[in-house]
Amino acid sequence: MQKLYIETYGCQMNVADSETVASILAEENYVVCQEMKEADLILVNTCSVRENAENKIYRRLEIFRQARRAKPELKIGVIGCMAERVQKDLIDNHGVNLVAGPDSYRKLPALVNELDFNENSIDTKLSIEETYSGICPTRLESNGISGFVSITRGCNNFCTYCIVPYTRGRERSRDPEDILLECGDLAKRGYKELTLLGQNVNSYIWEDKDSGQKTTFSSLMGLVAETVPEMRIRFTTSHPKDMSDDTLRIMASHENICKNIHLPVQSGSNKVLKSMNRKYTREDYMNRIEAIRTILPDCTIGTDIFCGFPAETPEDHAETLSLMKGVGFNSAFMFKYSERPGTYAAKNLPDDIPEEVKGKRLQEIIDLQIKLSLKSNQDDIGQVYEVLAEGLSKKSDQELFGRTSQNKVAVFPKLNYQAGDLVKVKIRDCTSATLKGDVV
Ligand code: SAH
Ligand code: SF4
Ligand code: F3S
Repeated sequence: MQKLYIETYGCQMNVADSETVASILAEENYVVCQEMKEADLILVNTCSVRENAENKIYRRLEIFRQARRAKPELKIGVIGCMAERVQKDLIDNHGVNLVAGPDSYRKLPALVNELDFNENSIDTKLSIEETYSGICPTRLESNGISGFVSITRGCNNFCTYCIVPYTRGRERSRDPEDILLECGDLAKRGYKELTLLGQNVNSYIWEDKDSGQKTTFSSLMGLVAETVPEMRIRFTTSHPKDMSDDTLRIMASHENICKNIHLPVQSGSNKVLKSMNRKYTREDYMNRIEAIRTILPDCTIGTDIFCGFPAETPEDHAETLSLMKGVGFNSAFMFKYSERPGTYAAKNLPDDIPEEVKGKRLQEIIDLQIKLSLKSNQDDIGQVYEVLAEGLSKKSDQELFGRTSQNKVAVFPKLNYQAGDLVKVKIRDCTSATLKGDVV
């Protein structure tokens, strides 16, 4: 038995991939360990989406190198998006032994074995068809309640700022049979909630080779919801240009599909959206919001926003703020633009917004979002929600925390409940981040 220590950074896709990697290496007698110092092999699953994400990894690699000085037989591997982007430089300049891109995980056993007679090994070929069909992920460091199932890999959208299409390759959908098997496996293991994952889940499409029958994202969600009726279903990420009314109707007709949509807007300015190649306008986006409000009145909406894209004016920034107010997002991931080498923007659009202007704009976005989140939470006071308990609250062992279908965190007295229970909670109080309530 060899010991494998995995650290995972970046998006949920990486969390899901680390589980696939653990499963592939389990076949080679690798067991996952929780302590770095026990490891024979360290793998770090990496993210390239912003420069600071990569800097964090470079700092970790320094720590791993130090560990190897004390234990020379230790092997260090980089997998994921940064492996794909930075390639051999990780070996040449950062002390890495093994580099494997997101479509090379089936080759990991061979790459690891190669280290017995070679100082290093690398495979970063992208594939147009790899979906890791037939591999059942080993569930890692999960709470045993909420699991991920990836339904697409890659991205074809080429937003001008984004590295993902280069690190993850072309978009491909997984066989619905594989997806349903994985969902069923989670249910069998006692999981209560699953999240369907893809860079743009709405463009999921599968054509059955024999019957020619097509499965779309909406039909897939219907299938999943009916295959595991006792589980909660979530999905991320939705692209506004592909978010259909069909999907909203499927959500409305299945109680176990959670009423929360993550719909990244990025900017409120049509000029900036066009230059980002997002393929929708502010008006198109607001039309989707209207559709959500009409078809799913109790649905919350989250988003991603970043400021300081090339040529963003104070007026463009003001339009982002006004769109945020107009929608009333209940949550948002907020960033400053970070130029990524190789993207269209890096080649053609000068990164011309000064760092302090980016910082000031980001702070305004964050301050506004805190107000919007607080308002959205205050509107819930007095209402009763079903909360899926996930564990003890950070502040008190007499309280549990969990999430509502709307993906809001709620804290309530533990009583005789435990993680995994669905509990009806009446909201009494809130902050911008948390609902507080009593069991009813
Ligand atoms: N596929 C998803 C998200 C991918 S990355 C989507 O299409 O929305 C997650 C978020 O990171 C993006 O939504 C965007 O807000 C942000 N992001 C991506 N590239 C970035 C960059 N170069 N600089 C700053 N933020 C970026
Ligand atoms: Fe990146 Fe755009 Fe694809 Fe999202 S849709 S992963 S932002 S290129
Ligand atoms: Fe990062 Fe790759 Fe995900 S760049 S956000 S880990 S797809």
